[in-house]
Amino acid sequence: MSARIIDGKGIAQEIRAELAKKVAEMTTQGNQPGLAVVLVGDDPASAVYVRQKRRACEEIGIRSVIHRLPADISQQELLSLVEECNQDKSIHGILVQLPLPDGLNEEEVIEAISPAKDVDGFHPINVGRLQIGKGGSIPCTPAGVVELVRRTGTPIEGKHVVVVGRSNIVGKPAATLFLQENATVTICHSRTKDVAAECRRADILVAAVGRPRLVKKDWIKPGAIVIDVGINRVDGKLVGDVDFDEVKDVAGAITPVPGGVGPMTIAMLMKATVEAALRA
Ligand code: GUN
Repeated sequence: MSARIIDGKGIAQEIRAELAKKVAEMTTQGNQPGLAVVLVGDDPASAVYVRQKRRACEEIGIRSVIHRLPADISQQELLSLVEECNQDKSIHGILVQLPLPDGLNEEEVIEAISPAKDVDGFHPINVGRLQIGKGGSIPCTPAGVVELVRRTGTPIEGKHVVVVGRSNIVGKPAATLFLQENATVTICHSRTKDVAAECRRADILVAAVGRPRLVKKDWIKPGAIVIDVGINRVDGKLVGDVDFDEVKDVAGAITPVPGGVGPMTIAMLMKATVEAALRA
């Protein structure tokens, strides 16, 4: 049997349409959400992501301000810009596109963003709030992962979720979010003894390691939901961390790459910006 393909692109479109309605109301009431995006240097992938974010803002009606800065900007100048955005009442969300060029201290920049405007959910205060289940901003990619699973209609409670990858941006927060949904969660990483055996126990498998087509057919419990966070470029083509062509024959549902988690990340960023504006 072939898995149901989870249409992240279509679901993200639905979410953007819902947000556009909400933003229109807010704008009428004089509370148009505003997002500041800071892009330092000329990393081509980052430039593409920033363009996608700007387009999504335009579509939804969120005011976006893109700050493009040269790679040799000083740490102090960058911190000053972040502080300006913190003080600007028309800006509700601030996103500094990562990675920053060499020589800039990412941690210090993230910590300079006001936690209330940290739509990435990377500030240690928001990381801590997520751990104790006390609100705050949630990182957009894991938020999108959980939303995709919810929209399959399969209850998460009591399920065994296996997350492959333990990054601060995806793996760890994804595991925390699924735990909050009352799943039983296993996190696998490079030192895990038998990753394939752990994955075979998963009702819901999340692959977020950045290794092209790592997850194979014989790693999958028949009928499992497979969410592929990987975006790897192989011979000019985008491929995920899951070997889609073979895994789709065993899984119950699976996200494609591209068109799965990627569009959801941006939709969740838009949602976080709207929520930040509502809280302000
Ligand atoms: N670079 C790649 N993904 C992200 C993200 O989600 N947020 C930020 N700020 N930078 C990124």
